[in-house]
Amino acid sequence: MGSIFNIEPDDPAPDYRQLYRQAREAILRGDFPAGSRLPSSRELAAQLHTARITVVQAYRQLEREGFVMTRPGSGTFVATALTRADVEPAGAGRGLTEWGVRAARLGAGRERPADEDRVPETRPAEIDFSFGRSFAELFPYDVWRRLLARYLSTDDAMMARYGTAAGYLPLRETIATYLRASRGVTCDPRQVVIVSGAQQALDILARLLLVPGDEVLVETPGYRDAFSLFRLHDARLTGLPVDEQGLPVDRIPPGCRARLVFVTPAHQFPKGGTMPLERRVALLKWAATRGALVIEDDYDGDLRYEGQALTALQGLDSERVVYLGTFSKVLFPALRLGYLVLPPRLLEPFIAAKDLVDRGAPTLTQAAVADFIEEGHFERHLRQLRRVYGRRRTALVEALERHMPGLLAYSPVAAGLHVMTALPPGSEEGRVVRAAAERGVRVYPGAPFYLEQPSPPAILLGFSGLDEDNIDEGVRRLAEVIP
Ligand SMILES: Cc1ncc(COP(=O)(O)O)c(C=O)c1O
Repeated sequence: MGSIFNIEPDDPAPDYRQLYRQAREAILRGDFPAGSRLPSSRELAAQLHTARITVVQAYRQLEREGFVMTRPGSGTFVATALTRADVEPAGAGRGLTEWGVRAARLGAGRERPADEDRVPETRPAEIDFSFGRSFAELFPYDVWRRLLARYLSTDDAMMARYGTAAGYLPLRETIATYLRASRGVTCDPRQVVIVSGAQQALDILARLLLVPGDEVLVETPGYRDAFSLFRLHDARLTGLPVDEQGLPVDRIPPGCRARLVFVTPAHQFPKGGTMPLERRVALLKWAATRGALVIEDDYDGDLRYEGQALTALQGLDSERVVYLGTFSKVLFPALRLGYLVLPPRLLEPFIAAKDLVDRGAPTLTQAAVADFIEEGHFERHLRQLRRVYGRRRTALVEALERHMPGLLAYSPVAAGLHVMTALPPGSEEGRVVRAAAERGVRVYPGAPFYLEQPSPPAILLGFSGLDEDNIDEGVRRLAEVIP
């Protein structure tokens, strides 16, 4: 039987400390409500293939800190005093305890410390199936430098004052034109707001729309940084397992009271799959009857290799849907530019909040991106990315079929930069990831993307950063470690 905890041999922290940390985070997240019983040390030790003393030490530490109580003969229970109200006093007197709680909630599930530069490690894997980055050799830096230089003259008044909190108008105009034509988004340029990445848009929306305890409906597996962010705002997440067509709207629990729904209908993240029109209409109907707002995250819709993009959800109901886009995948992530299309009633509050948060995205890069799009470089760049990434995607699918015929199930890869593959039932994804690393191949575990634990074993393989030969060789080596 699997466990919601795991002990990572590569983690420098002692085993009991890893376990203590995970249990503490699980309690703070509410996975173990006050008064509930933790697995017995014997059960947990057996599940984790570790010594019982490791679990006992972890539980003792939790007990010393008041998280659990041991009742001799009956087990270890989450302290009943540990309700949300106790650890998070409302209003005045908010102290270190609460900060600790919030920090712990953020730490959960992170692969690496937040202050670590997101640069390649010192000893990169020979073949790294990473995703979520762009590749310098494919980006027209000469053009980019020229466009930036245009706005760097010392007599340019634009650079001497604050920009507009909603974003640089010519960029908003060109995005509106692009989205109307490519996604069927219905919008006036004034509904487009420029943000410092999609992640900031989610943060501001959560600040504006959620009160502690609100329910948010999300896809599982799904975008875990959205999960963490909603949790940071004290939301309760309801995860609906997706199928090959995204969110199965007819399976939303009847008692669901979500105020917000977060979906990736164009290309479900991370499983793949596109939500068909009937489901889109059904979701909007559901949201309308509940008064819920839908966030449509179209994070990689520009990189579609097959078929036409369906009309965005936003194009079907511009009053109820917030459309979210990013330049992280198609330009580069460190640019930190994204955009949203807001329903008119949310526009003013959102822009006011954005103004308070950071006074608006940097004008220099916005102006350069506006020209990049306006002068045709963006379309050209997209065509090149689709061609190159499309070839790599075909190479990955063919390699999976060649080296592991019928072994790994994966959703159709019509778009995006990665494939999520299901490992054979019963296999341990941590072991597969480690064994692949020993062969110089880096693949990514699926578990962090699932709300439900234990999750079905899966790995993610990004294809955009590897040439066809490396993709084939990487999959060949991976095949050797799949049970
Ligand atoms: C599902 C999803 N949404 C949005 C983003 C983009 O976030 P940002 O614009 O903050 O870089 C990503 C990036 O990895 C993503 O995977």
